[in-house]
Amino acid sequence: MNIDEIIAHRRSYYPAQYTGEKISRSTVERLLKNANWAPNHLHTEPWRFKVFEGESLKALMAFMAGLYKKGSTPENFSQAKFDKFAINAEKVSHVVAICMQRSDKPGLPESEEIAAVACAVQNIWLTLTMVPHTGGYWSTGNLVYKAEMAEFLRLEIDERCLGLFYIGMVNPESQAPMGIRKPWEEKVEWMGG
Ligand SMILES: Cc1cc2nc3c(=O)[nH]c(=O)nc-3n(C[C@H](O)[C@H](O)[C@H](O)COP(=O)(O)O)c2cc1C
Repeated sequence: MNIDEIIAHRRSYYPAQYTGEKISRSTVERLLKNANWAPNHLHTEPWRFKVFEGESLKALMAFMAGLYKKGSTPENFSQAKFDKFAINAEKVSHVVAICMQRSDKPGLPESEEIAAVACAVQNIWLTLTMVPHTGGYWSTGNLVYKAEMAEFLRLEIDERCLGLFYIGMVNPESQAPMGIRKPWEEKVEWMGG
């Protein structure tokens, strides 16, 4: 694939589509190495990643199930949602907690640090697009922003969790998800010239 095709073929693949097989350590390292080439302002390189696999992945899913239950009321608790964490633990190969370390360099807005981390995640996502039968997605939801999650991830005071990147092996028989976008021309205004 050329660069245009890689970008257009990048898709979100969800745990339900994963086989439960493990992605090799060298592939995960390749994803993180490419993340590290993301652009960033004032050379802060604010991306920080915490990689969960095997037992630590199971522990993360169990922790999230508990956090979900704790934050639910009897009225809005969903058993299916709760059970999904344990199902995901079996399906997912790795979870990468996407974290941002805030620089103390003066005049650097937090939005720029978040933007740099998002660029790093896109590098992971595009690289994954090139690894046959793999897929992943960026997951957020209110749990990842909770103080308990920051504690579980052992984040420092200047760090924030921006989500979890789920990665798995995808059944080669399964249909690639449809990419849907409104026309790019609708989002562009040519300012004359
Ligand atoms: C910052 C961010 C957070 C996201 N959070 C979620 C999420 O919590 N749950 C989810 O199903 N998808 C999440 N996604 C994935 C989007 O749903 C997905 O990118 C979108 O549907 C477009 O599909 P595509 O990635 O296949 O092009 C997130 C994506 C981004 C960039």
